[in-house]
Amino acid sequence: MRRVRTHTNPLKRFSIEVPDWPNVFEDPKLPFALEFGSSKGEFLIRHAELFPKMNILGTEIRLPLVSSVKEKIKSLGLGNAHILYGNIANRIEDFIPCGRIDRVYIFFPDPWPKKRHFKRRLITSELLLKLSQFMQKDSGIFIRTDHYSLFDSIMSACNSVSNSFVISEEPSLPIISAWEEHCLRTDRHFNKIYLKRI
Ligand SMILES: C[S@@+](CC[C@H](N)C(=O)[O-])C[C@H]1O[C@@H](n2cnc3c(N)ncnc32)[C@H](O)[C@@H]1O
Repeated sequence: MRRVRTHTNPLKRFSIEVPDWPNVFEDPKLPFALEFGSSKGEFLIRHAELFPKMNILGTEIRLPLVSSVKEKIKSLGLGNAHILYGNIANRIEDFIPCGRIDRVYIFFPDPWPKKRHFKRRLITSELLLKLSQFMQKDSGIFIRTDHYSLFDSIMSACNSVSNSFVISEEPSLPIISAWEEHCLRTDRHFNKIYLKRI
């Protein structure tokens, strides 16, 4: 069995090659969803199966997980799902096959609770502003967290981008991530935030 570290520093050096899109997506022009932190790929795979007219690109910084998700995508023959190994937060513009992002999913990002690790947190105003550049009116970012102090920091990032996004009621989403399933099963409280592009 492959050993998977519990946490990996997202700021370590990753060398991420831009895929040759027609090699990874059957139709790179389809509407595009981006998922940060796909973990074992449960949500990514379900999304690809449920929305065949949409591509989904997952990202994950733990290599053994990426390898196993790639195997699952291949064995299921999904031409609308792909996963990248690495942190693309600073290079989003390189990873958008159709030129725009229709949906972003950030479910339960790592909390990095120690102050000296705050810079490892994924959701920042810089990330949201960067995403906004590729999102059209009424597209959106789905966020979940079960961590109180991270929730506060996410909310301040969201409030700082109020020129581009409004916090709004979430459109219905017929699938949930593995950690959301866990929270529901164990009665663990979590927050949902939906940022709608204006
Ligand atoms: C708490 S898990 C949640 C997994 C999944 N999203 C879910 O809801 O079941 C967070 C995942 O995000 C990954 N991750 C953390 N920072 C990341 C980053 N900057 N880019 C991509 N993945 C990241 C972690 O390795 C981990 O697998």
